[in-house]
Amino acid sequence: MKFFLDTANIDEIGQALDWGLCDGVTTNPTLVAREGREMEEAAKEICELVGPDRPVSAEVLAVEYDAIVKEAQERAAWAENIVVKIPLIPEGVKAMKTVSEMGIPINATLIFASTQALLAAKAGATYLSPFVGRQDDAGFDGMASVEQIAQFLRMYDDLDCEIILASARTVEHVIRGTQCGAHICTMPFDLLQKLFKHPMTDIGLDKFLADYRAMQEELGK
Ligand code: G3P
Repeated sequence: MKFFLDTANIDEIGQALDWGLCDGVTTNPTLVAREGREMEEAAKEICELVGPDRPVSAEVLAVEYDAIVKEAQERAAWAENIVVKIPLIPEGVKAMKTVSEMGIPINATLIFASTQALLAAKAGATYLSPFVGRQDDAGFDGMASVEQIAQFLRMYDDLDCEIILASARTVEHVIRGTQCGAHICTMPFDLLQKLFKHPMTDIGLDKFLADYRAMQEELGK
């Protein structure tokens, strides 16, 4: 499973790269606004930071077909690793077909049901982003939609997409994503940090180091 960071924060991306745990980045208008930056300059800086082999999703702000296609072309020209994020609305799905035929990679966003993912897959999206945490918040089983998408992608060879498990909130989301074969999990930085953590790792390390120090003291070293 690839790990993407769901952030527009440069320091967080730099730390994840340093750990060797950043295979790509996803942003959305909220995340860019949180950094107080314009979409274009933020996306260009992130693309340069992560390098050409890691995809960076930048979302369109338009909601009508012509404007979505125009913004998609503009974003694709920002850097070679830009993936254009397009929302799952009728005008968006129509634009996905056009934009994918131009050879521009698409991340279909704001997916809350496997049927919506199927529409994006048929329109040529490269990535399908079901929002798991937000589905859970609304009282649905977010992971069920990911499992259903993984199943139809396995069954139909002509649907050539990767699942980005999005709106991931918990370690359990990551585990269940690996179990059903989600290709990518995009996660906020704090979730990436949580993946390191287990109390027994810390307790075990303290004991190893204490035992070795005690032996050295005994030997007068
Ligand atoms: O970027 C898309 C998605 O991952 C947002 O997640 O945490 O705002 O529900 P969240």
